[in-house]
Amino acid sequence: MGREEWSSTLGFILASIGSAVGIGNIWRFPYIVGANGGGAFLIPYLVSVLLFGLPLMVLELAIGRSTGTSVVSTFRSIRKRFSVAGLVIVTIVSLILGYYLVITSWVLAYALFFILGRPMEFGAFTDSYLPLVFFLLSGLAVFMTVRSGVREGIERASRYLIPILLVFLLFLVAVSLTEPGAVEGVGFYLSPDYSRLTDPAVWIAAFGQAFFSLSVGMGILLTFGSYLKREALFRNAAIIAAADILIAVLAGLAIFPLVFTAGLDPAAGVNLAFITLPSAFTEIRYGMLLGALFFLMLFAAALTSAVSMLEAPTAALMDSYGYPRKRATLLVFAAVMLLGLPSALSYTALKLEVFGTAFLALADYAFGTIGLIVAGLIVSIVGGWFMSRARICAEIGGCGWQQKVYMTLIRYGVPAVLLITLIGSFFRVAG
Ligand code: PFF
Repeated sequence: MGREEWSSTLGFILASIGSAVGIGNIWRFPYIVGANGGGAFLIPYLVSVLLFGLPLMVLELAIGRSTGTSVVSTFRSIRKRFSVAGLVIVTIVSLILGYYLVITSWVLAYALFFILGRPMEFGAFTDSYLPLVFFLLSGLAVFMTVRSGVREGIERASRYLIPILLVFLLFLVAVSLTEPGAVEGVGFYLSPDYSRLTDPAVWIAAFGQAFFSLSVGMGILLTFGSYLKREALFRNAAIIAAADILIAVLAGLAIFPLVFTAGLDPAAGVNLAFITLPSAFTEIRYGMLLGALFFLMLFAAALTSAVSMLEAPTAALMDSYGYPRKRATLLVFAAVMLLGLPSALSYTALKLEVFGTAFLALADYAFGTIGLIVAGLIVSIVGGWFMSRARICAEIGGCGWQQKVYMTLIRYGVPAVLLITLIGSFFRVAG
């Protein structure tokens, strides 16, 4: 049997948007913007995406399409000993997926609570063992999707879910902007504070968020590239990045007016999505309906990202050991559920903690922040320095000056910026 392929360019683009657009866009980005200079933050963010995120995206797609295989076998084909680096990457993706699924499962729970018209208080929810039930349910949804294959599973899920997500989001933005707290909310979110641009922490926050949001440097796009035929990579990568930015910006316009209308303080991370917003929804008109739409939209975003994270290690197992898809998916799914269990348990009655910090928060820092950057460094160094230049040029339309600029960015710019982000995150400069 030949290698699986996307059914069309649109299918590939939607699946990649599905991977990029996730929890990171909808509740991470808006808060980071609000806390790091408002509208002014868009400058470092756009610089990060254009100069560093996009080149890495194109590099991954080019490598995957050129080798026609997933991350471990690609790395092995470049140098035999690099297969270890490939293994490190799929391990990091699996570890990230483990805790990402926990948050995905809370989103599913809240979608259901709002549909039933009975939002549960977050503390009461995590004091029960209900989170474990939802962890299993969301894991199964991701597993079933990936098990169905590239076209029938991954592509099909994004074809339905991304348009639905967009419609719900636009509706929420329209409603939010007519709420009484709209001016104050948009003000908090976007009024620019240019003085913040001299603060290195703001730049580091922008770099970190851009890499996380675009799902680059994780071997996911490399795997997606291996299912591609002859599409123009730059144009498609630009479409994916533009959609990612647009959805992130819109999410802030939907969220902050509601928070201010309910007279609440904007919070960060977990608190914003599961404490502040649910109480905002209980305060405002048609709150139950809006809450249901919001959490369904967030679930669509999280699910399609989680699916892409499961696909990278699954494809690696299929390509390296010749496992059939169904068996490979089952094995990776079982491993991911085990890896995610401590994070899941950290927000149940068991309250699993390490050094007084919830395991999930630790996982977000160790895997989702440090691990993500390490993986990005590996991909950019192996791809930029050890993959034949001629082969990459062949994928990106020749070796003219644009490609030279691009290769310079990949070889020097991306690793340098990732290293700075790594050091900054190590010392927690970026909050
Ligand atoms: N891009 C996803 C988001 O913004 O939520 C998260 C993500 C997916 C991060 C895949 C890393 C990754 F490898």
